[in-house]
Amino acid sequence: MIRYNLGMAGRIPSAFIDELINRVDIVEVIDSRVPLKKAGREYEACCPFHNEKTPSFKVNPTKQFYHCFGCKAGGSAITFLMEYDHLDFVEAIEELAKMAGVEVPREEGGSRFSPEQQQAQKQAKTNLYELMGQCDVFYRQQLRQHAQSQVAIDYLKGRGLSGEIAARYNLGYAPPGNTLGPAMPNQTDNLVTTGMLIRKDTGETYDRFRHRIMFPIRDSRGRVIAFGGRIIPEDNQSTDKVAKYLNSPETPLFHKGRELYGLYEVRKALRHIDRLLVVEGYMDVIALAQQGIDYAVASLGTACTVEHIQKLFRLCSDVVFCFDGDRAGHEAAWRALENTLPALQGTQQIRFLFLPDGEDPDSMIRKIGKQAFEEKIDQAQSLSEYFFSHLREGIGRHDLEAHRTLIERAKPYLQGMADAAYRSLLVRELASYTKKDEREVFGLLGVKGPSTGQALGQGRPGNYSAQGTTANRPSDKAMTPSLVRTALRCLIHSPGLAETIEEPKSLSQIDQPGIGLLVDLLENLKLNPTLNTAALLERWRDRDEGKHLAKLATWQSPLNDLESLQQEFLGAIERLQAKHLSARTDTLLAKSNQGTLSTDEKSELQSLLSRNNRQDPV
Ligand code: UTP
Ligand code: MN
Repeated sequence: MIRYNLGMAGRIPSAFIDELINRVDIVEVIDSRVPLKKAGREYEACCPFHNEKTPSFKVNPTKQFYHCFGCKAGGSAITFLMEYDHLDFVEAIEELAKMAGVEVPREEGGSRFSPEQQQAQKQAKTNLYELMGQCDVFYRQQLRQHAQSQVAIDYLKGRGLSGEIAARYNLGYAPPGNTLGPAMPNQTDNLVTTGMLIRKDTGETYDRFRHRIMFPIRDSRGRVIAFGGRIIPEDNQSTDKVAKYLNSPETPLFHKGRELYGLYEVRKALRHIDRLLVVEGYMDVIALAQQGIDYAVASLGTACTVEHIQKLFRLCSDVVFCFDGDRAGHEAAWRALENTLPALQGTQQIRFLFLPDGEDPDSMIRKIGKQAFEEKIDQAQSLSEYFFSHLREGIGRHDLEAHRTLIERAKPYLQGMADAAYRSLLVRELASYTKKDEREVFGLLGVKGPSTGQALGQGRPGNYSAQGTTANRPSDKAMTPSLVRTALRCLIHSPGLAETIEEPKSLSQIDQPGIGLLVDLLENLKLNPTLNTAALLERWRDRDEGKHLAKLATWQSPLNDLESLQQEFLGAIERLQAKHLSARTDTLLAKSNQGTLSTDEKSELQSLLSRNNRQDPV
């Protein structure tokens, strides 16, 4: 099974991920970053993901799994590195592999290229990163040394920036004329590839950025991958005809739809990122940082994409979009909503802050200061407020016709949402706006309501959904876990239990929510009997059920010995089977009463009845 598409580099086989999880010790991984204390069979510390005075962060060496009872963070060593070091999935794997002293293998099947070609490509890319680093150094040097850099320095000072902020964002200066090309004469081709030089039809090349203030764009690891260059206005010259900002084009290193300006700097400045502010421009990010708001990033003049939002949600679950109050700002906000709504899930929230017409974050914060600006952020519109106020535009009166139009307008957006619990929240609001029954609204929208929307857990809303989205659902404790849930959590707690089931497939005819997942887990474990809890969860990382499994993995078994756990597990399975047989018997009996039994069904019923399995198993 291969799930991770890594583009040109090939994919990481999941067997390698299993092995890696087995090989590194999560206790070591975490302990080197957050010192742990032994506590019984587990280790503990004050949680690094939220503020607390008494430790509720536990690391379980058997499950190779961590969990915080306070903020509900939890997962494998890979998850920990992603969360704590803010790495993406592949980076976390690479980091663990480095610790284990192994190379990350790539599936050849996934690539058109031979291993040698892949190696060469990797080297070529490494060279490009290095080259961009040299360009960055070059522009910063020019800002300090070049004879004409004073206008750039004056301009930055005039906009209120300190030397410290200029240094934090590595601001530089591209001198007039061609300077970069001549400074790196052997690198012409690579400079063209990275967009730093432009090649004319004649073959000659010239610097893309000339006499501009340079803003390096860094990736999540801090490598420079692109630049933005701002024109420096001169008193007696109109700059109308020239673009205010020039940006690097799309290159092998830079994909505009994926990168957020300032994200690396935010991560460097902050250990805990409570919220992120998304603004439009380079200067907005920098001016905000200058005033002490060091959690802003810019989407570089494009609409916020799903990739952007996923990047942001990996760092924190509160994202505030900040837009100018003009029409363009409102259009950009709506596009951001359209792009991100389908991807929202769990506790993630996006909010919207509109500035007064004619202001941008830079001008605004210089006018009102940090505190007042943060008050505005606190008061930003919620997603649902903004969503419905936008949809209601032009609808006018509160009558049946208006309600119908509103529901029609909301329909495609709500239908497109991936997270049922999140959607239910919006539907609930839509129902209250339109003074309709929730179930009716679900029907009008043609989407599943909470009573049928969940695949698992007795079909109750929110039972398995990510925490925190449905405010008034019964607490998990109040519910007796379903048999499937019981079996699942025993199995995740102790994957070795899979051995006790001879033929997982035979369970799949049992008609219970979640049975497919149980069979899937059992079959995976049959094929890979050495998987521990964390490795098992990793196999479900990209699937919807992964979240549910991770939650089940945090269950603390009151049964200390494997034997009792096995009893509970097998007990649940037996009762499931009994329940199934009993239901099947009922169906066949009913058919028999109607006289519609086939011959096969008749003999099936006979054998069912003769098994004397009629006592109700529950
Ligand atoms: P703005 O025009 O709002 O610029 O464009 P700004 O950030 O306020 O810049 P200052 O304050 O005049 O220095 C927002 C963003 O759109 C992109 C840039 O990323 C800019 O930061 N943009 C704008 C361009 O790429 N090219 C342009 O010509 C203009
Ligand atoms: Mn501006």
